[in-house]
Amino acid sequence: MGVERGAGVPDFGSGRTISPGVWTDGREEAATGYWQTGYVGRQRERELLAALIGAALAGRGQAVLLAGEPGIGKTRLGEETAAMAAATGMSCLWGRATDEEGSPLYWPFRQVLRGLDSATLVRAAAEVALVAPEVGAGPGGAPGDRRPAAGDGSGAGGELRFQAFEAVTSVLTAAAEPGGLLVVLDDLQWADPASLRLLVHLSRGLADARLLVLATYRDTETGGRDALRQTLAALAREAAVTRLRLRGLTEREVAS
Ligand SMILES: Nc1ncnc2c1ncn2[C@@H]1O[C@H](COP(=O)(O)OP(=O)(O)OP(=O)(O)O)[C@@H](O)[C@H]1O
Ligand SMILES: [Mg+2]
Repeated sequence: MGVERGAGVPDFGSGRTISPGVWTDGREEAATGYWQTGYVGRQRERELLAALIGAALAGRGQAVLLAGEPGIGKTRLGEETAAMAAATGMSCLWGRATDEEGSPLYWPFRQVLRGLDSATLVRAAAEVALVAPEVGAGPGGAPGDRRPAAGDGSGAGGELRFQAFEAVTSVLTAAAEPGGLLVVLDDLQWADPASLRLLVHLSRGLADARLLVLATYRDTETGGRDALRQTLAALAREAAVTRLRLRGLTEREVAS
């Protein structure tokens, strides 16, 4: 693939699995420089993602759950997917969950919605206002109020929540016309339960959308995260959802 090994790049011997996590003795720096020379390997994953981009472009919306340990390359593969998508003329919106204390509900989706162009945003605001008037400036939803009308996705207010989820789904579906849209939701292991419910709803409403949703998460950190485990189980039952787990690159992948 035209990638050269730089000085100091560790040689693991043939067949050895290479994963950034194994560099624990000061070789990280050389390894990092090496990584940055270009994207390496992942041919199977890229072919699969290219096929899913094609399906989304053809109006058969798709979602991908991309799992793996920290540092294995989930975000980077998301970036590569965004580059592949951009090459087809698709737009891309990115949202990232955070473990920072105080992050608002729906944080990854808020970032995604903020990335919409202003015309789409105006349409989105009108639609959300129609189905969920409290979002924004209405009662209990004064500007700056971090509580969305749809609540946190648990307990009462199910009808309102459903409508708000529908509004987000239809806004993203509309934004995906006509050229296709990739929505990357990174670091789902830190997403709030409300965002996870919205992801399930969105994934169930993809059928005719030119939309590809790529959600990444650390599968080493699902312990104690019931909402995440439930979400993964619910999504696994959906036909338009593909699960992908990244493993360390093999020596052959790195050398090719
Ligand atoms: N196939 C690849 N070719 C070249 N560089 C890569 C490849 N995969 C990952 N990298 C690089 O390895 C580093 C770690 O990857 P990345 O940040 O994508 O991991 P991650 O799985 O998202 O980790 P985390 O769980 O901490 O978010 C980055 O510098 C990234 O650019
Ligand atoms: Mg990452």
